[in-house]
Amino acid sequence: MNPVKWLVRILFLLFLSHLSISADTITVDHFIRDNGEVVVSSGKVFALGFFSPGSSRNRYVGIWYFQVPEQTVVWVANRDNPVKDNSGNLRIDGRGNLALFHGNQTLPVWSSNISITGTRNTIAQILDSGNLVLLQNDTGRAVVWQSFDYPTNTLLPFMKLGLSFRTGLNRIITSWKSPDDPGIGNCSYRINPSGFPQLYLYIGSAPRWRTGSWTGRRWSGVPEMTSNYIFNVSFVNTADEVSITYGVTNSSFITRMVTNETGIQQRFTWNREAKHWIEFWDAPKDQCDFYGHCGPNGYCNPVHSDVFECTCFPGFVPKSSQEWYLRDGGRGCVKKPGNSTCQNGEGFVKVEHAKVPDTSAARVDMSIGLKQCEVKCLRNCSCVAYASAYAESDGGIGCLTWHGDLVDARTYTDAGQDLYIRVDANDLARYTTKGPFHKKGVLAITIVSAIVLFLILLALLHCSVRRLRKAERRKRKNTFSFTSSSLFEDSICEKEIDESRRNGDLPFFDLSTIAAATNNFSTDNKLGQGGFGPVYKGVLFNGKEIAVKRLSKHSGQGVQEFKNEIVLIAKLQHRNLVRMLGCCIEGEEKMLIYEFLPNKSLDSFIFDDSKSSLLDWKKRLEIICGIARGILYLHQDSRLRIIHRDLKASNVLLDAEMNPKISDFGMARIFGGDQIEGDTKRVVGTYGYMSPEYAMHGHFSTKSDVYSFGVLLLEIITGKKNSTYFPDNPSSNLVGHVWDLWEEDKAIETVDSALADSYSADEFLKCVQIGLLCVQEHATDRPTMSTVVFMLSNETALPLPKQPAFIVKTQKGDEISTSEGTGSVNDATITMVQAR
Ligand SMILES: *[C@@H]1O[C@H](CO)[C@@H](O)[C@H](O)[C@H]1NC(C)=O
Ligand SMILES: *[C@@H]1O[C@H](CO)[C@@H](O)[C@H](O)[C@H]1NC(C)=O
Ligand SMILES: *[C@@H]1O[C@H](CO)[C@@H](O)[C@H](O)[C@H]1NC(C)=O
Ligand SMILES: *[C@@H]1O[C@H](CO)[C@@H](O)[C@H](O)[C@H]1NC(C)=O
Ligand SMILES: *[C@@H]1O[C@H](CO)[C@@H](O)[C@H](O)[C@H]1NC(C)=O
Ligand SMILES: *[C@@H]1O[C@H](CO)[C@@H](O)[C@H](O)[C@H]1NC(C)=O
Ligand SMILES: *[C@@H]1O[C@H](CO)[C@@H](O)[C@H](O)[C@H]1NC(C)=O
Ligand SMILES: *[C@@H]1O[C@H](CO)[C@@H](O)[C@H](O)[C@H]1NC(C)=O
Ligand SMILES: *[C@@H]1O[C@H](CO)[C@@H](O)[C@H](O)[C@H]1NC(C)=O
Repeated sequence: MNPVKWLVRILFLLFLSHLSISADTITVDHFIRDNGEVVVSSGKVFALGFFSPGSSRNRYVGIWYFQVPEQTVVWVANRDNPVKDNSGNLRIDGRGNLALFHGNQTLPVWSSNISITGTRNTIAQILDSGNLVLLQNDTGRAVVWQSFDYPTNTLLPFMKLGLSFRTGLNRIITSWKSPDDPGIGNCSYRINPSGFPQLYLYIGSAPRWRTGSWTGRRWSGVPEMTSNYIFNVSFVNTADEVSITYGVTNSSFITRMVTNETGIQQRFTWNREAKHWIEFWDAPKDQCDFYGHCGPNGYCNPVHSDVFECTCFPGFVPKSSQEWYLRDGGRGCVKKPGNSTCQNGEGFVKVEHAKVPDTSAARVDMSIGLKQCEVKCLRNCSCVAYASAYAESDGGIGCLTWHGDLVDARTYTDAGQDLYIRVDANDLARYTTKGPFHKKGVLAITIVSAIVLFLILLALLHCSVRRLRKAERRKRKNTFSFTSSSLFEDSICEKEIDESRRNGDLPFFDLSTIAAATNNFSTDNKLGQGGFGPVYKGVLFNGKEIAVKRLSKHSGQGVQEFKNEIVLIAKLQHRNLVRMLGCCIEGEEKMLIYEFLPNKSLDSFIFDDSKSSLLDWKKRLEIICGIARGILYLHQDSRLRIIHRDLKASNVLLDAEMNPKISDFGMARIFGGDQIEGDTKRVVGTYGYMSPEYAMHGHFSTKSDVYSFGVLLLEIITGKKNSTYFPDNPSSNLVGHVWDLWEEDKAIETVDSALADSYSADEFLKCVQIGLLCVQEHATDRPTMSTVVFMLSNETALPLPKQPAFIVKTQKGDEISTSEGTGSVNDATITMVQAR
């Protein structure tokens, strides 16, 4: 628009406002043309006239706030029939209707289009409420038409939203097509009267957000909604109509609710001082608000959104456990196989703070209360859930029952109502002994993990029963053996465990989840510092304890390579390996998430005077065998053939039952080098545990792990670190010391005094012999891990060990010399780049 035109328009407006500002009516004699003419409500609140929205040049008849400087249109007459020029005129036509004409054409572009009985002498009046009414100019002055019955995208105070069953009129709010086009858009806000009436925001015909059912004071999906000194609201649900009206207690307060074409519902208030609109409220707010986010029979808990916000209702399991695992809840949950819930001891489990599921197919009975509601639901086997209808009136009025899928439920931290879900007798016992199913946003373990756990337990139980039986058979035969398991038997058990755990891919955790779990990697949560980075203890939202290994940045791998590696390594499942739960990769950060083991590592027991007596001889043998089986699995039974390269006491963790679990396996793989046998330029490992060929030449193979195992075995039975200083033999370490005494037939003297007399000399000496076999100088002389396991588990003649290799300490005490370099001998893992 050019400036001259503007000036003319402003002058015209001034002139007009002088002339016709008091005119709030359109009559047969007084009509408005598209030349700046407007009619203004008597209190100068709203104006009616022609406008062009946004950058459009099309002309529309609309209503806007007279006093709000930025033109804010609240109603449009000819939404889908714009006038393309300035020839439009709005007048009372011959039939008494209010009509918009294009020039002198006889057919209107838009019309109130009602058939008027009685006098056709009508007037149209714009009211201070923003309502444009068509009245018959007779004594009754009956309103024959009003704009409030035909809302566009704005719900004004005192405007009804909802439908009249008597007249069939349904007042719905529909978005514009765009800020430039007030035509009827895809989004609508409307009451759905079926079942127990609810308000919905739709995109097309698909619900986007369910404002929910009326709970007596507010909508179930708007817990923040309150009647207060500014807003009041009245909900009508009768045989004649279902509607909601929002009011304001002070009419000078300017507020409007808008359905935006982007699929959001917004309430704005006008700030008179600052002269701008304030967004007072909007919806949907979080992902749990999106309709059916967790699918049928699942519900959404925003508190858990860092993990997975969807949970199946009690008695239900995910329809697709894989999608569920990948955090896609859309397909929801299905009834879990179980006992009948029909007259079979079933009952109800309470879900607190719920937005009740979609009530469009629910039954409602306002004449009974919650107690009778339970009875009613229990009696009818198709009833899957019940709740109070008006939960917020007088402690609950009425009864809602559901008879099909439970759709679009969610919970709030502090709002919402109780919802009761029908479960079978087993679940009833399970949940009721555990107390309320869901309290203050803290949730019981998800059903999935419960089932997975259950299967694992079953598998373990099965294995231990087999083992016990075998043990008894062995005992009867009275053969010499440390453990009662054979390799063959083991692998059967492993398969069972494998199956039960193989449930989807490795989960990737968000950095935010891990940061929250570890209190932002606080030093208080730090469990230790390994060669690959610090380890933190963490607690996930569901209460699960985890250990987080934050890898040092230079892993020498790209992100994809790293991911591939992790996915492979996570597949290694063995009871003597620490279980990897997932990982986290975000930018520079790479983290591995493991099960948390409360008992720390083996070194904190065997090398600690006060704790070493907690591990008696039997326990130590079990630990040795467990470690051996774990390594064997890495070397041979897993598909990957992993060489650990950093076996040591501090890398063996103990679970609550003191079962050993090897940690840090696969680290060498992650940090480069995945051959079965080879040379590396990066030596990872810990002096004292490193085989000579590896420490000095970077040559590694499964036999370098066997060497480390031998050192570890000797440490466990003697209770001494390999680096221990022996005054009688100052240049030696534990391996050398044991060898010397073995040669003198005095190896029994090396036994850990903390074992008191819990040990058997034969068994002890057998262990010394196996340990010495493992640390022999030449890798080819050392047994394989499967031989080691066999030797440990069976009575068999053992070969005599040859002279071991051990790195001789220098006089500097804590430092050692190798031909290529020096490093610290303490237990920290070292990484040494060798010059080759
Ligand atoms: C309508 O107006 C146009 C010019 O604006 C004129 O040419 C035409 O004759 C008019 N038609 C009638 C029916 O008055
Ligand atoms: C008025 O209503 C009639 C019938 O309901 C319809 O055929 C006609 O197109 C409408 N006219 C306008 C201008 O909306
Ligand atoms: C309304 O009716 C009254 C009395 O019948 C009449 O005096 C007045 O002019 C009418 N007003 C309009 C706008 O038609
Ligand atoms: C819808 O919302 C967007 C973003 O807030 C805004 O730019 C647009 O003008 C709104 N549409 C209408 C018709 O008010
Ligand atoms: C709205 O409807 C139009 C036409 O039917 C379609 O092209 C558009 O994608 C729809 N927009 C949304 C957000 O659904
Ligand atoms: C809100 O309160 C005002 C003033 O008390 C009253 O006139 C109006 O009817 C109430 N509106 C609703 C929707 O309850
Ligand atoms: C309504 O609000 C206006 C402006 O905030 C204030 O001046 C007036 O006293 C209020 N009226 C009532 C009845 O509270
Ligand atoms: C059904 O209940 C009985 C008795 O409580 C129980 O023994 C049985 O295992 C249950 N069956 C299923 C499939 O849960
Ligand atoms: C159970 O409830 C459903 C839904 O209200 C109803 O159709 C059915 O007849 C009821 N069954 C019994 C046995 O009352």
